[in-house]
Amino acid sequence: MDLKDHIRTVPDFPKPGILFYDISTLLAHPAAWRECVNQLKTIIAPMKPDLLIGIESRGFLPAAPLALELGVGFTMVRKKGKLPGECISHEYDLEYGSDIVQIQADAVKPGQKVVILDDLLATGGTLRAAIELSQKVGADVAGAACIIELLGLGGRDGLNAPFHSLISYE
Ligand code: PRP
Ligand code: MG
Repeated sequence: MDLKDHIRTVPDFPKPGILFYDISTLLAHPAAWRECVNQLKTIIAPMKPDLLIGIESRGFLPAAPLALELGVGFTMVRKKGKLPGECISHEYDLEYGSDIVQIQADAVKPGQKVVILDDLLATGGTLRAAIELSQKVGADVAGAACIIELLGLGGRDGLNAPFHSLISYE
């Protein structure tokens, strides 16, 4: 099965000139979504993670079922102010300005092997911030993966962890 057959492209979203790669159609097709989770499992199981980390919000979608498949825990990286209790923050630069991501302080035990998931890699800024945050709390980041990689922006070059994607577009 070609996962690309189940990704819908939406022109001019969220801004004019941007082609949006929409995984809603993949999620809506049980066999295709099963295939996607299986492909992620094939890549990630050999890394033997102790924990999977999903990036708000669409990164939660592949990370949570894959954690169940692998029999490991799942934790969330979220935008500032969304997680209760003591959190660790990491500020990162955007094209204009900056943003802050957080993880709960007790979510990762020092030295735990983690793999980080998101739906899509574009500039890589979001995943890079999640990797740096995870390393800040003592995680051993064994790898990161996305369903979709947009190649033109060179996002993977800025990542300080082995990166994998299932499908890519120029
Ligand atoms: C999108 C996508 C990735 C990120 C990729 O998330 O889901 O997380 O952008 O872009 P980058 O590689 O240039 O950082 P978005 O901010 O749209 O939020 P969402 O996942 O909550 O929909
Ligand atoms: Mg996202």
